[in-house]
Amino acid sequence: MNKRFEDKVVVVTGAAQGIGEAYARALAEEGAAVVVADLNEEAGAKVAASINEGGGRAIFVPCDVSSAASAEALVSRTVEELGGIDHLVNNAAIYGSMEFNLLISVDWDYYKRFMAVNLDGALVMTRAVHPEIARRGGGAIVNQSSTAAYLYSGFYGLAKAGINSLTQQLAHELGGQRIRVNAIAPGPTDTEATRTQAGDAAKDIVRNSLAIKRIGSVDDMVGALLFLLSDDASWVTGQVLAVDGGQTFRL
Ligand SMILES: NC(=O)c1ccc[n+]([C@@H]2O[C@H](COP(=O)([O-])OP(=O)(O)OC[C@H]3O[C@@H](n4cnc5c(N)ncnc54)[C@H](O)[C@@H]3O)[C@@H](O)[C@H]2O)c1
Repeated sequence: MNKRFEDKVVVVTGAAQGIGEAYARALAEEGAAVVVADLNEEAGAKVAASINEGGGRAIFVPCDVSSAASAEALVSRTVEELGGIDHLVNNAAIYGSMEFNLLISVDWDYYKRFMAVNLDGALVMTRAVHPEIARRGGGAIVNQSSTAAYLYSGFYGLAKAGINSLTQQLAHELGGQRIRVNAIAPGPTDTEATRTQAGDAAKDIVRNSLAIKRIGSVDDMVGALLFLLSDDASWVTGQVLAVDGGQTFRL
């Protein structure tokens, strides 16, 4: 069977664990050379090594998505080692370890750091990476949103609502360079971060708010990502695709 991403280079941020790791592994299985980009050097390096051991191609590049210098360094290293960039997946976020607090009382420095990673990080990475995608004749960017954008969830939801708007704005700014920009909005998905964050409350969310009565798996997200990055989605841009077991409806 044809591998859909043969000869493509894909940068996946936050790929050291959870959904990002599943994205990186699936892309490598489809033939892509994958850049595992993450703050967590130990876990990220392990993911890249395990992809290589399994016959795929991956490099780990340490990266803080909130830093333009870090994003530029990632681009230089990727181009040097893999020859260019075709697609970008902006998945990194502060999530599993995030503080529970209100918008009106959260520590201001914490809030600024949170937004710098969870909202601005996708823009920082896009600004650094898009010239390389354009140089290869175009490609795609997928941002990781959340159904939290549509539900009360404080600064986490605010950042994800921003990601949705960023997706629409960037789709217009980059469409002329043949770069499509879409987002995936996962519902509650079984990762270590969710287990830490939601604990048993996840069961109530599934019971009370999902049409399909089970928590999502990282594999549930993979199909949407591969579709949005592939040529099957060549006229799809500026969209936010909910992969959420029917948790949210938008008319
Ligand atoms: N798991 C869910 O239920 C769920 C639901 C909706 C949306 N999401 C979103 O999906 C994405 C992944 O979720 P997950 O459950 O796999 O989370 P996770 O916490 O397991 O993974 C996030 C990764 O991002 C990395 N990261 C954090 N800050 C970074 C930075 N500044 N620079 C680079 N890397 C950084 C972390 O080291 C980690 O590897 C996040 O954007 C999250 O908001 C998750």
